[in-house]
Amino acid sequence: MTAGIKSVGSYIPARRVSNEELSKTVDTSDEWIRSHTGIGNRHIASEKETCSYMATEAAKDALKNAGISKDEIDFIIVATITPDYRDFPATANLVQNNLGIGNIGSFDVKAACTGFAYGLELGRGLILGGTAKNLLVIGAEKLSAITNWKDRSTAVLFGDGAGAAVMSPCPDGEGIVDSILRTDGSGADALYVPSGGTATPFILGETLEEDLYMKMDGQRVYNFAVKVNVEIVTELMKRNGLTTDDVDYIVPHQANYRIILAASRRAKIPLEKYYLNMEEFANTSSASIPLALAEMNRKGLLKKGMKILTVGFGGGLTYGGNYIVW
Ligand code: ACO
Repeated sequence: MTAGIKSVGSYIPARRVSNEELSKTVDTSDEWIRSHTGIGNRHIASEKETCSYMATEAAKDALKNAGISKDEIDFIIVATITPDYRDFPATANLVQNNLGIGNIGSFDVKAACTGFAYGLELGRGLILGGTAKNLLVIGAEKLSAITNWKDRSTAVLFGDGAGAAVMSPCPDGEGIVDSILRTDGSGADALYVPSGGTATPFILGETLEEDLYMKMDGQRVYNFAVKVNVEIVTELMKRNGLTTDDVDYIVPHQANYRIILAASRRAKIPLEKYYLNMEEFANTSSASIPLALAEMNRKGLLKKGMKILTVGFGGGLTYGGNYIVW
């Protein structure tokens, strides 16, 4: 036995902000954003739509699609870098309460845009170890809350939303067959929130407002992202004896069209193999891979037995991916 994805679900805030609308408050243009990122819109959460709220709604959607009751869930993992509370409690705990499930374990994973890939492998471990039978892995982000809307180099890139998967036991050779999870902590300052943690605490009157928001060295992140995208995809294929033809879809973290295009060229994998939806949702960090899977599922693109690779890369710097037999 191993463990796999039984169903997927999602939640997207109704408020949709186009590049044109954003250009009214940020010094940018639809033309620049599309040509540099492939992003056309992003969805922005309201005050009520907290990270835990979106995570809970995505979980409910996944549970409905799985056809199982919430009471059959015995663990919750939430991947997020924008938790409801900065330090604790974990957002997963709030989701547990929102869903009304008692006596189960829950925790958050902070692996930025690779968070969902980490979550799937952790979920597999909990099921194989006998700790859980059915569990939820959720990627949820309210990135609008840590976006510096005065910094055009990052403000145009991000969006909010949540995607969820119900994981259950499945026969060997199906489900999560393999995962690669890696970190390059030497790049921690390439993409981070400088202040507000215990290293540089928030001090009223001293802390710069901009240091409470995401800061990114775009070029450094871009070069890293292309390199590790190729590394993870080729390594997952090699160690599982897969050729490009064997792979039905690659579901990458939806950061930027140009990153995926460059990676596909370097890996010599046709761009058509990559499922892309950043045009509509922008970069939703931990939520982007499950959001893509949920959308593919709704479109009827995912068929039993399909071979799918996920690949995540982002703040941390983290990177990794999963080989999934659907
Ligand atoms: N609108 C208009 N002009 C802009 C904007 C904007 N939104 N942002 C930057 N510019 C300008 C700059 O000021 C600069 O102008 P200048 O030449 O007069 O100085 C020019 O555009 C080029 O700026 P660069 O930063 O060199 O633009 P680049 O082509 O490198 O693209 C980008 C920037 C899109 C951010 C790129 O570096 C990138 O994709 N990096 C990776 C970012 C990413 O995807 N991060 C997230 C991954 S990790 C995660 O998901 C959390």
